Amino acid sequence: MQKGLKGIVAAETQISHIDGIEGKLTYRGFEIGDLSRFSFEEVAYLLWYGKLPDQEKLQKLKDELIKNRTLPLHIKNILDHLPKDMDLMSIIRTAISSEGVASYGWKPSIEQAIRLTSLVPTIISYWTCLKNGKPYVEPSEDLSHVENYLYMLNGEIPSKAHTLALETYMILTLEHGMNASTFSARVTASTESDMVSAATSAIGTMKGPLHGGAPSGVIDLLDEVRSVGSAERVIRRKLENGEKLMGFGHRVYKTHDPRAVALKAKLLDIVGEDEWLDLALDVEKTAVALLKEYKPGRSLYTNVEFYAAAIMKAIQLDSNLFTPTFTASRMVGWTAHILEQAEDNTIYRPQSIYTGQFHDTTSLNT
Ligand code: ACO
Repeated sequence: MQKGLKGIVAAETQISHIDGIEGKLTYRGFEIGDLSRFSFEEVAYLLWYGKLPDQEKLQKLKDELIKNRTLPLHIKNILDHLPKDMDLMSIIRTAISSEGVASYGWKPSIEQAIRLTSLVPTIISYWTCLKNGKPYVEPSEDLSHVENYLYMLNGEIPSKAHTLALETYMILTLEHGMNASTFSARVTASTESDMVSAATSAIGTMKGPLHGGAPSGVIDLLDEVRSVGSAERVIRRKLENGEKLMGFGHRVYKTHDPRAVALKAKLLDIVGEDEWLDLALDVEKTAVALLKEYKPGRSLYTNVEFYAAAIMKAIQLDSNLFTPTFTASRMVGWTAHILEQAEDNTIYRPQSIYTGQFHDTTSLNT
């Protein structure tokens, strides 16, 4: 038995490939480092349709994403009445789940995938405005997917640098093989349930701290170090105490996490001078050197969470938006997998080993 299905191959896929030894991640055969020069819309198209779009197809997808941005009245009504202390991941799960109307029957479609992907940023920003007592910013009909997300959150057109930084993060986290939430989505889809139900399962799985748990541990580390030059003292103390450094190491990648590498390169390119970026670079350099000293031969480097935290901090995104933003991008990967599952479906039905006792009712005094 493999507890947690570790190492078990559950499906064939043509969506992405992870090479943990070489530190490579490809979407539909393209290395993700190369894909970060494309837009969110182009890479989403690639994941859903299997190839990059020409201008006409890209424009059609952009139009569809824009058309589906507006929240239906029933979702607004539901959000208006949910308890204000509900966490944002539960809000997204509830709102997306309420999309489950009759038109979402078997089989799932790309149109449904586009709609769910469009709705998530609007749900996040509607709730954020509601919770903060700010007027709701209606989605724009002109801005790109990522620009519009930042626009709805802040009420102003974002800078090019902030948009590019977030877009890079979102592209790099659109998809990552058979992770727990993707598996959840595929299991639900495999029962010939609808796309909304499968996506809702995935959101519930993403919410857990062992999976989508925000890179808040990295923020805590950066906060603790606070200034360039103080990293060695803080990190050495943590390693002496046997603590794990948040944002370092990975279960699959036994070398550099290619998403961290690509995110860092883009960050350096577009954010330029930034206090948080300088601090992050200093912490990375110090931590990698100290990890070599304390954990020789383990090959521990930054993972995607490390630079995700740095990027979110650099663009001043509130930390309670980290996992929801991850969800907004991963909706593309989930829906691509739901579509793939539906193409050649077999219900997932593993077995378990019973370790309880067997009883005989004749011996009971009833
Ligand atoms: N800081 C210090 N030591 C570490 C770290 C770290 N971040 N990561 C691994 N190690 C050490 C372990 O203590 C272990 O040492 P030992 O052999 O002396 O006992 C050795 O390196 C191997 O570590 P494992 O735990 O076996 O590595 P594994 O691959 O199972 O764990 C994990 C990967 C869970 C991600 C781990 O590196 C970790 O906890 N990192 C910090 C948390 C983190 O950043 N999580 C986000 C991951 S990215 C993502 O999920 C999207």
